Amino acid sequence: MKPILILMLFPIFSLAWQVKVWQLRENVQSFFSNPYKKSRVPQFMLDSKHPWILENQKKLEKLSDAESYLCFSSQEHTIDVNQKKSGGEENELGIPPDLFDYLEIDNSRGGISRPGWPNALLRAQEIQRCPAALSQVKTFKTGIYVYDSKYSDWDKRVLEPPRPPRELLDLFGDVLGNMSLETLKWDIPGQYAHYFGEHFVNRGLTLPSAKTLEISSINHFLVPMCSNITELVCRRRWGDYINKGDEDPELLLIKASMFAPNITRLGMEWEFDESKVQGTQFQA
Ligand SMILES: *[C@@H]1O[C@H](CO)[C@@H](O)[C@H](O)[C@H]1NC(C)=O
Ligand SMILES: *[C@@H]1O[C@H](CO)[C@@H](O)[C@H](O)[C@H]1NC(C)=O
Ligand SMILES: *[C@@H]1O[C@H](CO)[C@@H](O)[C@H](O)[C@H]1NC(C)=O
Repeated sequence: MKPILILMLFPIFSLAWQVKVWQLRENVQSFFSNPYKKSRVPQFMLDSKHPWILENQKKLEKLSDAESYLCFSSQEHTIDVNQKKSGGEENELGIPPDLFDYLEIDNSRGGISRPGWPNALLRAQEIQRCPAALSQVKTFKTGIYVYDSKYSDWDKRVLEPPRPPRELLDLFGDVLGNMSLETLKWDIPGQYAHYFGEHFVNRGLTLPSAKTLEISSINHFLVPMCSNITELVCRRRWGDYINKGDEDPELLLIKASMFAPNITRLGMEWEFDESKVQGTQFQA
């Protein structure tokens, strides 16, 4: 009985452990890049590169609780947090209304070298506990690059398991479900996309506010969830090749787009085989 229980607990324990290890490492890294202290500004805000954050980071670091200041002060019910703790007004730190317009969880762009799953989990946790971010974000971009088995070090391999942690799937569902997005840019590589697809379908995720969806064809499952979109932009990804016997993801994307009848613009990064669109609303 007991060994079975331990085996069952192990995946949960090991994920928590992985993330703790990674968080420790992030802290150590940020200590070396800024020896005085870990940044008080949540990493997802630094990642958004909003000019106001870049300009005011020093002032923000001086606040006793920069995260509460940024995440709660524009919410009416928490104005007291602002007044009591932050001292933001004296520092002339008026938060611009577009601060949270663009958010990303992306370890694939230049200048970032963080393992895919742990980075996504930590950033999604930060966003989930930031009500201002959830309620104000308009464009959300997810780009996850998984190093997978390309590492030789065991500790890095542990950080990049071959499938996304369950906790991350749940958290992404919660985060997306709590946003009122206008634009979703979603770039999860081919071999992992279906884990998100199955999970989102099972929980009945819908993103009715989205107007623009930018995806690679393998992430076609998002189209029916974003049924109000007027623009669908397809990016080509080399990882999106098909296994023998699988349905062509480009065809699945075209089929999926029929669940979004208001699409007026279809952007493709490649030349499209016209025979695929026969019988769809994209027929010329
Ligand atoms: C919003 O997030 C909460 C967790 O904080 C979750 O329980 C809820 O299901 C989410 N809402 C949607 C619509 O996904
Ligand atoms: C999305 O479409 C539904 C009908 O399918 C409509 O009731 C709803 O108001 C739309 N939502 C937005 C935010 O446009
Ligand atoms: C399409 O757009 C119209 C008006 O803009 C809206 O009323 C309708 O709900 C939309 N349809 C869907 C399925 O989202």
